[in-house]
Amino acid sequence: MNLKVVILAAGKGTRMRSSLPKVLHPIAGKAMVSHVLDTARSLEAEKNIVVVGHGAEAVQETVTADDVSCVLQAEQLGTGHAVQQALPALSNEDVVLILYGDVPLTQKETLQRLLSVVDATTIGLLTVNMDDPTGYGRIVRNSNHCVTGIVEEKDASDAIREINEVNTGILALNGELLASLLSEINCDNAQGEYYLTDIFSLANARGISIETCQPAAEWEVSGVNNRMQLAELERIHQANVAYSLMENGASLADPSRIDVRGVLNTGQDVSIDVNCLFFGDVSLGNNVEIGPNCVIINSRIADGTQILANSVIEEADIAANCNIGPFARIRPATELGEGAKVGNFVEVKKARVGAGSKINHLTYVGDAVIGESSNIGAGTITCNYDGVNKSQTIIGDGVFIGSNSSLVAPVEIENGATVGAGSTITKQVAKDQLAVARGKQMNLDNWARPTKK
Ligand code: UD1
Ligand code: CA
Repeated sequence: MNLKVVILAAGKGTRMRSSLPKVLHPIAGKAMVSHVLDTARSLEAEKNIVVVGHGAEAVQETVTADDVSCVLQAEQLGTGHAVQQALPALSNEDVVLILYGDVPLTQKETLQRLLSVVDATTIGLLTVNMDDPTGYGRIVRNSNHCVTGIVEEKDASDAIREINEVNTGILALNGELLASLLSEINCDNAQGEYYLTDIFSLANARGISIETCQPAAEWEVSGVNNRMQLAELERIHQANVAYSLMENGASLADPSRIDVRGVLNTGQDVSIDVNCLFFGDVSLGNNVEIGPNCVIINSRIADGTQILANSVIEEADIAANCNIGPFARIRPATELGEGAKVGNFVEVKKARVGAGSKINHLTYVGDAVIGESSNIGAGTITCNYDGVNKSQTIIGDGVFIGSNSSLVAPVEIENGATVGAGSTITKQVAKDQLAVARGKQMNLDNWARPTKK
């Protein structure tokens, strides 16, 4: 099958009250139109044609890719007119699927069912039954239950308005048939628009059959016209993601309190507490535990690692059985070796921390390499920035850094060395040496405290 997908995305979206074109508003951090494109790609569409109009430049910039071409609908004269703009990009043998940039959650399986009914003389139409069909085009059928046409709300008689089966707008048909039906539509209707829906009565008159199918759930065909509907679809999407995580063996303390804005891969027996956010590509190994209120961005966390409450982890590679947080901040280009510990109020950036090393409290480690089984005391700071350049701190295996030390980079502390608490280290410390770099303690006898005058 030569599948081409036409995505209508020219509308203004006045009710969003936004300077951002409607189809660029995000669901799960990704523009609605990009969700639609990804669904089209999952169907292995040969080409996706996005009809742009309002905010054309911004939409075009977002969708640009080898398998996408944009066509401009300079004036929005109706859905039929919009599809006409795409005709030059279509050929006779194509199967053409029409989707909408503001209907982001249609499932691949539903569209596959729709496409399976299409042939040269059969149009596939996705319809849905609504308790309140107000505003939608109604599906009109004859006594044999065959579709004979679609009538828009504004053109409908009272009797037709009683019909509960509505047009989702999503349809598929042969390219040659589409072009020939579109050449016959006009704008002789209540809205003075070129209706795509008019192709159905024209097709019916030609004896073309119209096969309908329905989505598994109504939200698959729900469009977004305002921010309330956007938020509703966001919640539905997040619930779907949560259910699939649980199906794959993750425990969620509350499936309504997790947000995934990207792709989250989980191993078995992962547990995630409430209010966690995952951005970009995140993978969690087996038995990983994530405490409440954590934010994890583009990171890999291996088996058995525990992330405690309120930790933020970005672009990090964390080995198995590590312990992080609560209140840890792990910044980009951090690698933690197996069993490493990063405790509360610790910030780690662009650092490699070896297996079994501990940075348990109130510390900044940036631009550093730390070996295995070293202990970085509370309040240690790697002074990596001189106001102009960043420099590196190198710490070996089995090193002990006493509390409240400043390590002025570039500097190296070799294997087995010890740094006394409160030291400011500016020179290399050799293997197994003790370095103490602080004011000497002075004790004065019988010290009289000042008194108030
Ligand atoms: C359309 C259908 C209606 C259906 C409903 C489902 C027509 C005539 N009516 O009505 O039967 O029940 O969708 O939501 O098709 N667009 C363009 N260019 C245009 C006009 C529209 O790109 O010139 C895009 C819009 O951005 C939007 C989509 O097409 O994404 C639908 O347009 P809209 O005006 O919302 O159609 P409805 O009146 O809702
Ligand atoms: Ca609409």
